[in-house]
Amino acid sequence: MTGATTRRTGPEQLRSRIAAELERTRARTALLTEAVDEADLVRQHSPLMSPLVWDLAHVGNQEELWLVRDVGGREPVRRDIDDLYDAFKQPRRDRPALPLLPPQEARAYLHTVRDKVLDLLDRVAFTDRPLLADGFAFGMIVQHEQQHDETMLATHQLRAGPAVLHAPPPPEPTARVDAEVLVPAGEFTMGTDTDPWALDNERPAHRVHLPAYAIDAAPVTNGRYREFIADGGYEDPRWWSPAGWQHRQEAGLVAPMHWRRDGDGWAYRRFGRWAPVRDDEPVVHVCYHEAQAYAAWAGRRLPTEAEWEKAARWDPVTGRSRRYPWGDDEPTAEHANLGQRHLWPAPVGAYPAGASPLGVHQLIGDVWEWTSTPFRGHPGFTAFPYREYSEVFFGDEHRVLRGGSFGTDRAACRGTFRNWDFPIRRQIFSGFRCARDARPEESQP
Ligand code: AVJ
Ligand code: FE
Repeated sequence: MTGATTRRTGPEQLRSRIAAELERTRARTALLTEAVDEADLVRQHSPLMSPLVWDLAHVGNQEELWLVRDVGGREPVRRDIDDLYDAFKQPRRDRPALPLLPPQEARAYLHTVRDKVLDLLDRVAFTDRPLLADGFAFGMIVQHEQQHDETMLATHQLRAGPAVLHAPPPPEPTARVDAEVLVPAGEFTMGTDTDPWALDNERPAHRVHLPAYAIDAAPVTNGRYREFIADGGYEDPRWWSPAGWQHRQEAGLVAPMHWRRDGDGWAYRRFGRWAPVRDDEPVVHVCYHEAQAYAAWAGRRLPTEAEWEKAARWDPVTGRSRRYPWGDDEPTAEHANLGQRHLWPAPVGAYPAGASPLGVHQLIGDVWEWTSTPFRGHPGFTAFPYREYSEVFFGDEHRVLRGGSFGTDRAACRGTFRNWDFPIRRQIFSGFRCARDARPEESQP
C-alpha cells in the first residue's frame, strides 16, 4: 500500500500508514542492532562497511534533517553531529575512528528524533509541496532506513564469530520453472510518474523499444555456477572482460564470496553458520565481473536494465507496465522472498505466485540482479530532493542492480526500483540471470 493506494486514501489513512511503516522499520533496525553487544556495534567488521553504530545514528540524523528540520521547520536536535554522519564527508574506512555517539546515546538520539517526527506527523498537512505530496518525505525516510537495514544485514554477514541472527529457511519449490522466456519485440513504459514514493532515479516514465530477447526464467543457481567453476571458468581469461580479468587476478577470485571447498562440493557461510551449497538456490555474493564471465561461458550475456524491467513489469495482455511481476498488489510472503524473513535466497520454483505473466520467476526478492547497464538518469531526470541520493553516482563506474534481495524490505523494492554498485562489489546480496538476443526465426510475431 505504499504505492497507488496511498493516493486514493485520505490524509488520516496516509498518516496511520506512515506511522505503521516508521514503526515496522524501526523494529527491524532495533533487531539488527540489539543482536550484538556494544563492542560489536562500535567495531568495524570490514573496511567496506561502517560500524553498525554509525548506520544507527546516521539513520536518525537523516530523519532529523529531512523531517524535523526541513518538513517540520523545527529547531535542530543535534546540529553538532551532522558532519559525523554525513556519508560524503566521512569515507567508510575512516568511520570507526570518529568520535561517534556511543550505542546508548545513539539510541536515545533516535528516540528523541522519532518523538518529534510522530508529533509532526499528527499535525502535518499533506500539501502539494513536492516533499509533502503523498507524504513523500516520510516515504523517503522509511526507505532510507530500510536501505541501511539491508546494509547492516550485509555487515552481519561479514562479521566473524557465532551466529546471532535467526530465521526459518525459505519455502521449498512448488513449481516447475522453464529455462528461459521469450519477450517479444516492442515498446514498453520504463520508470514511473505516478508511484508516490518512487525515488528520483525511477522517474520519469518513458517509452523504450526493445528487439525480441530471451531472459532466464529464474536467477542463475549455485548448481549452474558450480559447473562454471568446475569447467575452469575462473582460470580462463576468454570469459572475462579485461577489467574483470584484472580484478579476478588481483583479488584472487576462485568462487563466490563466503564459499569454501567442502569435500567434493562447496559450503557457504551465512550469518555465522556453514551450510552445504544447495544446487537449486540462486547464487549470491558474486560481483558484476563474475556474473559477466559466467554469462560469456554459458554463451549468453547479462540483461540490460531495460530488458530486466520489461520482463518484470510489462503485461502482454494490456501492454501496460505494472508495479510488480504479478500485478499492482503489494508483495506478500506468497509473492517473494523479501524483508529479512529468511536469511538466504529461496530455491528456484518457491514463488509461483510472484511470477510474471510470461513465466519469469523470482525477479523480486532473493538476490539483487546485476544488469549490464551503467547507472544514469532516465531521460528527463531531475534530482529530487537532493543530488547526493542518485545524481552524483551517475556514470560508467557503477552498474545497475534490480529486484531486491531477501534482505530488502518491500518498502524499498518494486519493479522500478534501481540499485547500483561498483562492478567489483560482492558483499551485497547480489546474483544475476542471463539473457540473449532472440534468433531471427524467434522474432516473427
Ligand atoms: C541505493 C543502496 C546504493 O547504500 O549507498 C543509503 C542507499 N543512500 N543512504 C547506499 C543509500 C543514502 C544507497 N544504495
Ligand atoms: Fe544513508
